[in-house]
Amino acid sequence: MSATSPLRSVLPPDIRARKGSTPLVVLTAYTTPIARLVDSHCDIALVGDSVGMVLHGMTSTLGVTMEMMILHGRSVVKGCQKAMPVIDMPFGSYEEGPAQAYRNAARLMSETGAPAVKLEGGTHMAETIAFLVQRGVPVMAHIGLTPQSVNTLGGYKVVGREGEAQKVMDDALAVEQAGAFSVVLEKIPMGLAGRITQSLTIPTIGIGAGANCDGQVLVVDDMLGMFTEFRPKFVKRYADLGHLADQAIAAYAAEVRSRAFPSLDHSFADVLPPKGPKS
Ligand code: KIV
Repeated sequence: MSATSPLRSVLPPDIRARKGSTPLVVLTAYTTPIARLVDSHCDIALVGDSVGMVLHGMTSTLGVTMEMMILHGRSVVKGCQKAMPVIDMPFGSYEEGPAQAYRNAARLMSETGAPAVKLEGGTHMAETIAFLVQRGVPVMAHIGLTPQSVNTLGGYKVVGREGEAQKVMDDALAVEQAGAFSVVLEKIPMGLAGRITQSLTIPTIGIGAGANCDGQVLVVDDMLGMFTEFRPKFVKRYADLGHLADQAIAAYAAEVRSRAFPSLDHSFADVLPPKGPKS
């Protein structure tokens, strides 16, 4: 799939139209094989900038570049037939203003074939979101805990308790007003997430925001037990693939050291055996 391929079957207006119906299922994906798995079961494959921490060993998402997002974005777009790919705009690629954001969003879309981008920020990003949407760039917004602002927020804390709640509500209304087709609510109290979901006409997609959102997103490596550096409370582990991989690699290492691998089954004879008579 590229920017010149036929239109995808699911586009941002279809996601927007899912407001209030069956919950939207979203997982991150960074590679073609995982995108294929996500594609079979999910509505959206999010090429999150979490790729920096999950696949590249970074300690935050701040070091993720446009080139990384384009490379992983292309891989994911190749693996998606039904699910709609959305690509994160990395830190430093949109905050200067609408023109910078448009230039980089257009690059992400034209060089990967993805039909939408995601960016972090509420009220202060509304002007940029409106600029992008008016020029053909569908935007998924991301408010609450915005990991690219971890240094100003003072850590990966719950955002929106008590006195902070109105600010998060205002952010949600502002991104909707600006034209976002959906909004990720990260690590906010569940009551507030429910009130925001009721107040908006666009779908809310929660991560650590409780059950009252219009959809849910998780980092795929977290829920598969492949990424174990952090274990936020909101991550439910559906498999322990990290442990299975560890066992398999240990078995391989032991068999190589004992010369049990490769056996004849995995080796080639010097002379081909004679062909038997045709039956
Ligand atoms: O980068 C990411 O993976 C995300 C999701 C967790 C929402 O932004």
